[in-house]
Amino acid sequence: MNSLEVKSVTKIIKNKKILNNISLEANDGQVVGLIGPNGSGKSTLFKVITNIYNPTIGKVFVDNIDLQKEYEKISSEIGFLIEEPSLYENLTGKENLMLISKLYNKFDSNIFEEVCNELEINKFLNVRFNKCSMGMKQKIGIAAAIIHNPKYIILDEPTNSLDAESIIKFKRLIKTLATRGKTIILSSHILSDVEEICDKIYILQNGEIIDCINNQENKHCIQYLIYTEKFNLRIDQIPIIEKDGQKVLIVKEEQLNDILNMLSRNNIRIFKIQEKRNTLQEKFIERIGYNECD
Ligand SMILES: Nc1ncnc2c1ncn2[C@@H]1O[C@H](COP(=O)(O)OP(=O)(O)OP(=O)(O)O)[C@@H](O)[C@H]1O
Ligand SMILES: [Mg+2]
Repeated sequence: MNSLEVKSVTKIIKNKKILNNISLEANDGQVVGLIGPNGSGKSTLFKVITNIYNPTIGKVFVDNIDLQKEYEKISSEIGFLIEEPSLYENLTGKENLMLISKLYNKFDSNIFEEVCNELEINKFLNVRFNKCSMGMKQKIGIAAAIIHNPKYIILDEPTNSLDAESIIKFKRLIKTLATRGKTIILSSHILSDVEEICDKIYILQNGEIIDCINNQENKHCIQYLIYTEKFNLRIDQIPIIEKDGQKVLIVKEEQLNDILNMLSRNNIRIFKIQEKRNTLQEKFIERIGYNECD
């Protein structure tokens, strides 16, 4: 059963179609990634998922609740950070976080402590928000999305402005939350991070979902590059390129043994065999096209 469902959502703003017939699903305990070029519609989709925008056409269901009709029934179970943290500038980080957890009537000192420790925000919790650095604000923004222990966590480019160590800790926190059954949807332009933590990844382009990648399957899609001396043999269905006076055979894992045997039977010298994983970045470039990535 999908716990969060976006069904055929189209969003038109000022006569412009920003989202076109988007459908997306996320299950309990899943980390779902949303990637796409600037302006492809990620933040707009997040605003629809969190009821900031109503869809022009289509529906969003969270725990089978129609968001547009009964948002208040589920609002305390949805935490989000979209674009930048929108918190009270004159309050400290601590005051802001306390306010959110009390607003939802869900203050829990254990969760409060855990979130602050994991995100390492204790040392600046008493600094006024408008005196915080960008990275400090971002961490408090992430904390604000999870401090009231919601089941659904929506994070739009959460690692923006975070330093390297904080990104590692953030990814660990997301994995922990998913093991507790939270449903997390996040966007990022750092494809290696998305690949590391997401179970499923949607690619958005010009307001449309153009692909959905099962990340577990993608991770196991390995190819091998076999570098050999030049030869004149014909090998069907194996792409072969020439590089630096050598032949390079591109083979799938299940073809590897047969090809190696065939090369050896024909006394063709092998110089090296290289493993090539089909990374999310390669898939992304393949789907989006090079022009958009120039
Ligand atoms: N309130 C608005 N009024 C008019 N156009 C808008 C509005 N909000 C967004 N857009 C347009 O919708 C498109 C998608 O914007 P959106 O912010 O959702 O993209 P994004 O994928 O989040 O981009 P980025 O990676 O830069 O954050 C853009 O062309 C943007 O100009
Ligand atoms: Mg955005």
